[in-house]
Amino acid sequence: MSEIAPTREARHTRHGSSIGQPMTRREGVLKVTGAARFAADNHPPGILYAVLAVSTVARGRLVSLDLAAAKAHPGVVDVMTHENRPALASDPDEKSNPFMFRLDLLQNDRVRYAGQPVAVVIAETLEAATEGAALLAPRFEAETARVGLNGAEVFAPSTVGVGNPPKAEKGDVEAGLSAAAHRVEATYETPAQYHNPMEPHGVVAVWEGDRLSLDMPSQALVMAQGRLAGLFGIPPENIHIRSPYLGGGFGSKGFPAGPQVLGIMAAKLTGRPVKLVVKREQMFGPVGHRAPTRQRIRIGMDETGSLTAIENHTRTASSTYDDFFEAAADVAHTLYASPAIRTSYEAVRLDTGTPLFMRAPGEAPGSVALESAIDEAAQAAGMDPLAFRLKNYAEVEPISGKPFSSKALRECYRQGAERFGWDTRPLEPRAMWDEAGRLRGWGVGTATFPALMFQAKARATIRRDGSGLMETGAHDMGQGAWTALAQIAADALGLDIDAVEFRAGTSDLPDAGIAGGSGHTATAGMALHQAGANAIAKLGELAVNDEASPLFGAGNVGTVARGGRLVRRDDESRGESFSDILARAGLTHIEAEGAAQPDGAAQEAYAMHAHGAVFADVSVDPDLGQIRVTRLVGAFAAGRIINPRMVESQLFGGMIWGLSFALHEEGVSDPRTGRVMNADLAEYQIPVQADIPAMEAILVHEDDPHVNALGIKGVGEIGITGTAGAIANAVWHATGRRLRRFPIRLTDLL
Ligand code: MOS
Repeated sequence: MSEIAPTREARHTRHGSSIGQPMTRREGVLKVTGAARFAADNHPPGILYAVLAVSTVARGRLVSLDLAAAKAHPGVVDVMTHENRPALASDPDEKSNPFMFRLDLLQNDRVRYAGQPVAVVIAETLEAATEGAALLAPRFEAETARVGLNGAEVFAPSTVGVGNPPKAEKGDVEAGLSAAAHRVEATYETPAQYHNPMEPHGVVAVWEGDRLSLDMPSQALVMAQGRLAGLFGIPPENIHIRSPYLGGGFGSKGFPAGPQVLGIMAAKLTGRPVKLVVKREQMFGPVGHRAPTRQRIRIGMDETGSLTAIENHTRTASSTYDDFFEAAADVAHTLYASPAIRTSYEAVRLDTGTPLFMRAPGEAPGSVALESAIDEAAQAAGMDPLAFRLKNYAEVEPISGKPFSSKALRECYRQGAERFGWDTRPLEPRAMWDEAGRLRGWGVGTATFPALMFQAKARATIRRDGSGLMETGAHDMGQGAWTALAQIAADALGLDIDAVEFRAGTSDLPDAGIAGGSGHTATAGMALHQAGANAIAKLGELAVNDEASPLFGAGNVGTVARGGRLVRRDDESRGESFSDILARAGLTHIEAEGAAQPDGAAQEAYAMHAHGAVFADVSVDPDLGQIRVTRLVGAFAAGRIINPRMVESQLFGGMIWGLSFALHEEGVSDPRTGRVMNADLAEYQIPVQADIPAMEAILVHEDDPHVNALGIKGVGEIGITGTAGAIANAVWHATGRRLRRFPIRLTDLL
């Protein structure tokens, strides 16, 4: 991207070794000076502003809207309702694959959750649209809302997560439990959490005939094109999406959300550009949330503390009209060696929006429960919780029996424990007090997340002036893709990063797949790596077949790119510049494409996961129950680290969310109305700066020869796993109280 200024580190990077450098964000200055344009910063000429009116009941029917009052307001241009909305080419309730989530696009007068859009007011100003929406004063016929996990109609979901089987079993769990010398049985509850990236979902939509131009944050540009093409009946290539920056995504921007599609419909209805941005309180409904879970865990151990059985039976919830089941139990497949493992699910349907992927879907709530239960098991066996985890270390993936492609978890435990000072921890709880008279406690949790890879494409161009251009439609949610992927791109061409123009963030570029599943750096990075290799190979072919080249005849030994030159692999002093090769061939540039996909054979042969260990130090006021996390140390092994500075930030972000999971976040629904009662960032509690302790993230070295040619595992989600369990375990160690309902509140300790 041409507007990106090089960083100081970039200028000092050695040729061909951008990977591994702790570069600062290449777009950082643009962001902190406000020059970076996020979707809602765009105001095309003639723009109108759209504001949602949403349901105040969770189940029922829209009875009336005061359209006359809204339309009489000066500045209001139109009101879009289920009666006048533009026709769609496909039913928003159609579902032809598990990723195609049903949307609420004013298809009728039914209300399926509180906060569901029921009308869109479109006006010349944001203020007029906001007032118009208030004047609509919608009235509803309400039916009794289904709230909470105690619903009577419990059923077995047919899949969980993203098409995972809802049951898995290895060995004989009942036999393992009945033969056990020690047993733990406990139920853990995790709450609903609502997607609230700093940047709410929004869109600026412009129609030109049957072409659609969008400024819209997206974690998956090509999938968004496909979904919108289906809804509007136009070819995907007619849809151009610009998404250079996202103010966070966390899974909620993987697919266009209903309100964003409504903005596009409003532009169609009025024939003018429309901007629609979801208000903060409207985030608690139509843009996805993490469903609550209730996890019953049973663990058996023999006399020596070796596990004999692990079982997790999870109850969770989806909406009444679509399927997404949080795969919380499945983390038990991976973490601990046990001859018997069983996971299973049941679910209820609630009058909520449909749950969705949220950072570490499955693993986040699953590891909270499992890491708490493992701690209880260690206590039952009379063992130190870290020693207990090492005793039950999984040398192969427990459920599949496959070897790990790499697994430096033992080293994570060792380095984390050493930095933390774990070896002085007393075994018994309530044994440490600080100078202020507060109870202190230390806990550990294991982190894990799969090393996923998807499909992506990229294009590499080498220009006669010796510079490079690398293109892929990658997404920067704030995680640092502009920087980390540019580092990979530079190395792929053997060029200094300043000599490479890197383009990403728009839908007209090669498909970079989805920025999700912690797989974006591996996926888009491998496509760039491959495109670069293909471009260099083309250049090499020109040179080795050209008698005028010092590389003539080097075809057998091969050539390699170094600092803008192609050199003999066996003698790097012999070679010539990219420019000379292209000039002699009479070419202005050379171009090649590259594609990445997971290696099916390697995936069949190996279990691929990143791992980590998180250590937490908490203090608890013995009278008031106030819990403070005073220190967090995480040690993570995630294959090759492209940029240690970005990775540390990702891990801090994850660990902070883990702290939030343990002590703060909870969407509370009113059992009478089904409305979220704390639908704002004042009462939907998240940690503030003062809640964040001293944190360290240790990057443990790990070479993985199997995950992909670059050895990248991904770090976007693993930080949230392990942390909440470590904090809950530290609270136990401080107080002697096992608290199994999250978040843990000070009132739980009174
Ligand atoms: Mo993530 S929940 O795959 O953005």
